[in-house]
Amino acid sequence: MAILITGGTGYIGSHTVIELLNQGYEVVVVDNFSNSKPEVIKRIEEISGKKFSFYKVDLLDYIGLEKVFKENNISKVIHFAGLKAVGESVSIPLKYYYNNITGTLILCELMSKYGVKKLVFSSSATVYGMNNVSPLTEDLPLSTTNPYGSTKLMIERILNDLVVSDPEWGIVILRYFNPIGAHESGRIGEDPNGIPNNLMPYITQVAVGKRAALSIFGNDYETSDGTGVRDYIHVVDLAKGHLKALEKVKSEKGVMVYNLGTGIGYSVLDVVKAFEKATNMTILYNIVDKRSGDVDRCFADASKALKELDWKCEKNLEDMCRDSWKWQVSNPNGYKEN
Ligand code: NAD
Ligand code: UFG
Repeated sequence: MAILITGGTGYIGSHTVIELLNQGYEVVVVDNFSNSKPEVIKRIEEISGKKFSFYKVDLLDYIGLEKVFKENNISKVIHFAGLKAVGESVSIPLKYYYNNITGTLILCELMSKYGVKKLVFSSSATVYGMNNVSPLTEDLPLSTTNPYGSTKLMIERILNDLVVSDPEWGIVILRYFNPIGAHESGRIGEDPNGIPNNLMPYITQVAVGKRAALSIFGNDYETSDGTGVRDYIHVVDLAKGHLKALEKVKSEKGVMVYNLGTGIGYSVLDVVKAFEKATNMTILYNIVDKRSGDVDRCFADASKALKELDWKCEKNLEDMCRDSWKWQVSNPNGYKEN
């Protein structure tokens, strides 16, 4: 029996595939490479010393995806595939709604057709919206501020409706906080296209000399030093959470929702300082205007995942900075020829 991983060559997917292979799972990966590179496959096999099946398929291609279900004995699915850039989702909302929602609908239809009713879905802390106060618990009211977030919230609702219609399904919804870091080998990591939107890839690109200085978006938030506070989680800890979620869907039915975060909030300046300490480098920065849609503080109450999944983070901010840097410095141009 195999685990199907959609979006398995992406940032979080690739780290999860390694953890699965290390634990002896049979893995089938589907990705259309809209935001990842074929090189990732080689690197995963190199790190794990194991092979896996790969299909270059778009989730929107029903026939192509059905072939994957026909040719493999799939027991469970981890569904990472989706577009994730918040700003881009505001400029091209239809593409985001179509890709993320229709892709999920086609996947779920095929899962139903082939009797595969165990699913782990990548949601986001973005579904907590602007009005909740951290630490955030899973039962808070949900809302969104951009089309990307709306796709996540809509998919969560679709999955809830699916379970109401057919209680045989077991679905774990994982709400990720801010994944950073990379595999300790430095061979796989986050490879953003163009100018990074997120904090850590921007910092590492400043450190490697690709960008002049970090722009810090605002220093008058209601936080200890005025800069925004987030719950940064090492991508390998996050990946391991998916193995716990697979165990959960194996034994339980219904929809189960978990925050995956450390439960600790760090400010932008905390991250800059931790990066400087871990790498012995200096990061130049300027304070600029706030970015619209940013909240002051967003961090998890991670106790439900500890209690029900027996999962917690093992790596700290220093590990995250060190591993992000190792990936960046050994691959200054990401997966492109260096
Ligand atoms: P990523 O872009 O690195 O990986 C997503 C993968 O899905 C890519 O390889 C892309 O090519 C693929 N993909 C996209 N649309 C597809 C389609 N229609 N068919 C087939 N493949 C498709 O992103 P990531 O950071 O690894 O995120 C994985 C998931 O976690 C996403 O759903 C994302 O929204 C969610 N998430 C990410 C973060 C984060 O900060 N990275 C935070 C919260 C939630
Ligand atoms: N920041 C800067 N300068 C930058 C980039 C970010 O100061 O160049 C600040 C932001 O203002 C924020 C913090 O660094 O205070 C983190 O910003 P990120 O863009 O790295 O992350 P966000 O918390 O804004 O968003 C991330 C994902 C979203 C997801 C959200 C909640 O990018 O997809 O976490 O999980 F929805």
